[in-house]
Amino acid sequence: MSDRGRKVGLLVGKENTFPEPFLDLVNQRGREDGIQAEPAVLGGTGELHATDYAVIVDRISHEVPFYRAYLKSAVLLGTVVVNDPFWWEADEKFFECTLARKLGVAVPRTVVLPNKAYIPDIDPQRSLRNLQYPLDWEAIVRYTGLPAILKPNTGGGWKDVHLVHSVEDLIRAYDTSGEKTMILQEFIDWQDYIRCICIGRKHILPIRYNPKVAFAERYATDQPVTGRLRERAVADAGRLCEALGYDMNTVEFAVKDDTLYAIDFLNPAPDFDNFSIKEENFGWVLEHMSDLVLRYARGEAEPPWRGTYRWWRYLDGSSRPPPHPPRKGEGETEPARKGEGEMAEGD
Ligand SMILES: Nc1ncnc2c1ncn2[C@@H]1O[C@H](COP(=O)(O)OP(=O)(O)O)[C@@H](O)[C@H]1O
Ligand SMILES: [Mg+2]
Repeated sequence: MSDRGRKVGLLVGKENTFPEPFLDLVNQRGREDGIQAEPAVLGGTGELHATDYAVIVDRISHEVPFYRAYLKSAVLLGTVVVNDPFWWEADEKFFECTLARKLGVAVPRTVVLPNKAYIPDIDPQRSLRNLQYPLDWEAIVRYTGLPAILKPNTGGGWKDVHLVHSVEDLIRAYDTSGEKTMILQEFIDWQDYIRCICIGRKHILPIRYNPKVAFAERYATDQPVTGRLRERAVADAGRLCEALGYDMNTVEFAVKDDTLYAIDFLNPAPDFDNFSIKEENFGWVLEHMSDLVLRYARGEAEPPWRGTYRWWRYLDGSSRPPPHPPRKGEGETEPARKGEGEMAEGD
């Protein structure tokens, strides 16, 4: 077996509390199988330059395009990347709202808006003939209601998120959006709020969350989510992550009356900092993240997206990591079925 079958790489931004304990735990638990975890080191790479890694956990490629390019190619060459770099790049909040509606998960009424500004090469008179102008702002807010939330279709870190109370307010905020594609969303005046950390699409940890308080106090570990509310959060978050194929995500719900509205579920590099999610939840994350990558590194599980893009069918079968023999005393491992099986920087 090549070394690749045994290496787990981690790509991170400025976060500091997750990387070391995560790598330590994977090394500790993977040692008997010869699995080694380390910060990935990447530089200029040729197209068929085999990646060293059986698994790469990617927490920053949305801000470092070179990593994205490398990861897409590594996927083709057989590396399991958490999360799928192709889908992460394609995914958007508006698409996710449509998907949620089709899946029967409640989302606020949402409208996607044409951009306010374009690159200099776009001539508004000649290049934008397919765009309705001016927009029918009155009709748009009739659909979403007021107040409403104007926010970027992709993004994170609560940047450019505006609560608007009137059409005038909305246009003022929209006029600051520049080249960002924005969505306008029904404002959910919630009574309760939950954030679910989701790992491996099956492990869902709902945590009470208060977006209105200071960052470090938002995860409220002293008020556990229980009973029927918990069940519903787990079911809806699980359905969304399974459909999206994210192995690492957070799904936020605003709870109003009896409805859980999914607000933000595009967090493929979720906040894993111990000071933010708190120690107990941090332990849960380490446990499930290490388990996930070890299963991939041992060949005990297949990533949900492998084989799903058109180009997979033209490959010769060599783009798979070598099968791993069963561990001592473990007997035969059941092969995972195909398609089966979580922002300034992050969410
Ligand atoms: N439709 C909405 N109704 C009520 N609050 C919202 C809505 N959309 C966003 N928010 C609030 O704004 C915050 C940031 O929005 P979010 O979609 O999570 O953006 P980001 O991707 O930047 O994190 C949410 O955590 C929530 O508190
Ligand atoms: Mg968010």
